[in-house]
Amino acid sequence: MRTPLMAGNWKMNKTASEAIQFFDSLVEEVGNPVDREVLICPPFTALYPLGRMIRKSNAPVRLGAQNLYPAEGGAYTGEISPAMLRDAGCTYVIVGHSERRQYFRESNAFINRKIRTALDNQLCPIICVGESLDQREAGQAKAVVTAQGRACLDGFSGQDVANLVIAYEPLWAIGTGRTATPADAQSMHAAIRALLAELHGRDVANAVRILYGGSVKPANVDTLMSQPDIDGALVGGASLKVDSFARIVKFQAGG
Ligand code: 13P
Repeated sequence: MRTPLMAGNWKMNKTASEAIQFFDSLVEEVGNPVDREVLICPPFTALYPLGRMIRKSNAPVRLGAQNLYPAEGGAYTGEISPAMLRDAGCTYVIVGHSERRQYFRESNAFINRKIRTALDNQLCPIICVGESLDQREAGQAKAVVTAQGRACLDGFSGQDVANLVIAYEPLWAIGTGRTATPADAQSMHAAIRALLAELHGRDVANAVRILYGGSVKPANVDTLMSQPDIDGALVGGASLKVDSFARIVKFQAGG
């Protein structure tokens, strides 16, 4: 079955020195979980030192970037290439986060190119989709999210799709303290899985991990993770403190 993926997206928080300190305490807190994957996505400046620490200590924590540029290299001032991320120790990369869609005008077509670049470079893309509050209130949540999914995944084979991760992050739940109810989140995740099944069949759809993101906290992670189509969490604010992120990583699904 799908191994849960518990991911921290630090966004533009923590210097490299702060990240190093955090990492030591996190490893101590989470131990060596065998039935779940732990992932940290710090800012670019912290990737290399954390990658070295992970390699040295064999820590059961994976490293991901928050973005990449869809080219192997060249004259793209201020951008970062897939080879740079791999060299720093990344195995994952977040693409199409709503903050990048909103503040940097990233389109589904551009995100699609980033996914291709990530897959071509053995980086597992975590593709973010999600609707705004207006869209939800207009009853368009599923239509918006499936349209984003269709456009982002256009042109990929079943084998490509089986190797990626999707994160459902409703915009109205990000950084607001307002979480989707487990039932609402489950219903959106099921719609995303149905889209994957329509595009590539049930086996591929069942292989893909779909994470929930948007005000995930120690207090709500257990019920969210008890939903059949929620395969992990993409955590912003609550991943910045060792105790809250460690508690999220140690979620107990049931019921
Ligand atoms: P919060 O957990 O702070 O709501 O952020 C969610 C998010 O955007 C993760 O990518």
